Amino acid sequence: PRHFAIVPAAGSGSRMGASRPKQYLPLLGRPLIHHALSVLCEAPDIDRVFVVLSIDDTEWARHDWRGLGGKLVPLFCGGATRADSVLGGLRAIAGEASPSDWVLVHDAARPCLAPWHVDKLIRELAGDEVGGLLAVPVADTLKRADAQRHVAATVPRDSLWQAQTPQMFRYVMLRRALEGASAVTDESSAIEAAGLRPRLVQGDATNLKVTYPLDLHLAEWILTNREG
Ligand code: C5P
Repeated sequence: PRHFAIVPAAGSGSRMGASRPKQYLPLLGRPLIHHALSVLCEAPDIDRVFVVLSIDDTEWARHDWRGLGGKLVPLFCGGATRADSVLGGLRAIAGEASPSDWVLVHDAARPCLAPWHVDKLIRELAGDEVGGLLAVPVADTLKRADAQRHVAATVPRDSLWQAQTPQMFRYVMLRRALEGASAVTDESSAIEAAGLRPRLVQGDATNLKVTYPLDLHLAEWILTNREG
């Protein structure tokens, strides 16, 4: 099977409090999204990289993406939610993808994706029926709050993982799952709701999601201090 990457980048990034969507914020002299796109485009196993942009995106055209090569394809078919954007991307590539091809969905907001993250995910899931996602074991002790913000319970953390991206599933399964899903915040939840069991592939904390301004500083530090 082939491997396609879909990068949903149609969000507004309102929690950053910045004047432009976070995928375009400057990070070490490039738009934030450029970092992950470059790793995906350079991954030898990935055939094409589709970026899902908002229909009224005005920033994409202002940057130079030619250095990323011929695998990169922008699609102006973003939706109201992340899941809608991914589904829009899946529909747009229907003519190109076979049912059993793999789709790796990666957040535009995770700029510190490393080549080994992609390689490990693809390698560990290669023979799998369903697919899975990068994740890291939870390090903190977790509390469930009641309505008055008192601790209602301590949630045992030994079996808890933080979901990251890429999340990698078969084209047809992912599309069917997202067509039938409502209000999911990642692809895995849609697959789970369809009764399937995605595998967790251990990544690491460097693959952080930029949500708040502090995350941008952390991302810059990680990219600057990464070896190789
Ligand atoms: O907001 P959040 O950080 O969860 O967004 C995760 C990813 O989904 C981001 O890359 C964002 O651009 C994308 N997204 C999208 N379409 C939306 C909302 C979010 O492509 N309507």
